[in-house]
Amino acid sequence: MSSLPASIDSVRTARPVTVRSDSARKATALTDSTGEKEAVAGAASTALATQQERVDGLPSALRTVDLRAWYGSTEALHGITLPFPERRVTAIIGPSGCGKSTLLRCLNRMHELSPGGRVAGQVLLGEEDVYGPDVDPVEMRRHVGMVFQRPNPFPTMSIFDNVAAALRWTGMRGRAAVAQRVEEALRMAALWDEVKDRLHENALGLSGGQQQRLCIARALAVEPRILLMDEPASALDPISTGHVEELIQQLKQKYTIIIVTHNMQQAARVSDYTVFMLLGELVEFAPTEKLFTTPSDPRSEAYITGRFG
Ligand SMILES: Nc1ncnc2c1ncn2[C@@H]1O[C@H](COP(=O)(O)OP(=O)(O)OP(=O)(O)O)[C@@H](O)[C@H]1O
Ligand SMILES: [Mg+2]
Repeated sequence: MSSLPASIDSVRTARPVTVRSDSARKATALTDSTGEKEAVAGAASTALATQQERVDGLPSALRTVDLRAWYGSTEALHGITLPFPERRVTAIIGPSGCGKSTLLRCLNRMHELSPGGRVAGQVLLGEEDVYGPDVDPVEMRRHVGMVFQRPNPFPTMSIFDNVAAALRWTGMRGRAAVAQRVEEALRMAALWDEVKDRLHENALGLSGGQQQRLCIARALAVEPRILLMDEPASALDPISTGHVEELIQQLKQKYTIIIVTHNMQQAARVSDYTVFMLLGELVEFAPTEKLFTTPSDPRSEAYITGRFG
């Protein structure tokens, strides 16, 4: 697999996250006010509330502070305070219905598009609250891209246009510039060699695994900082799954990746940190190796040893 083009990094560093002192102050206040609740919730999350700006010396690219989410009157997330360390892979695991997808969709403001979808608390991208009054959700989603469980290429478009369309929506013009970025994105998604001679064929002519890598290329083309992946390999065969996992390992050199997976072996293989959730609550966040070998919470242990879920 080819390594990532260096130009991407220079573009990324040229667009720093806006630092706003008012949101930073708000974050501190919120963390303080939730201290009592977190003391009840457990020592692990209390430690997180104070340490989540850095994890093992790494800055958090994204973090949540007392994040709650509802569908109508039903609360699906009950106050999640969590860091996502920069340029690392964080896996989110937990039984079906525990809120993994809801959490992921809150991170890029897609939850509010669900019927009755409502959110409270904070999601901080750098120091900026993505739910702040001045934030344009469409612009924000450029920085926090998403790949879904089922590959969803634009069905009427060619392979090339699937990626180019994402660029044009962000205002990019100029045939040569667009073509160059499409190639870069397809290379980053480890798909270029397989499609370079058929770029103008319909995207639906690709295999499922290739379509999923095309969707990853489409998400990467606009140069997000964070890549959210909701069970990106669950509809794929083992070979395509291997491709996607290998790709995730490559991409973390440049991106912060948050991946939901039901496959615990996959979480153990690809992630640096793992989050275990249960019934809309955060049970444990830990380095993956620790969570899978010496978890702190008996519920994590019960889950990873297959005693429930
Ligand atoms: N659109 C919706 N309307 C109402 N409730 C919803 C909606 N989507 C999810 N929920 C509920 O919110 C809770 C969390 O669901 P979510 O989809 O986040 O779980 P999950 O951990 O991703 O599950 P799975 O592993 O099955 O994908 C569940 O109780 C679910 O029934
Ligand atoms: Mg889900």
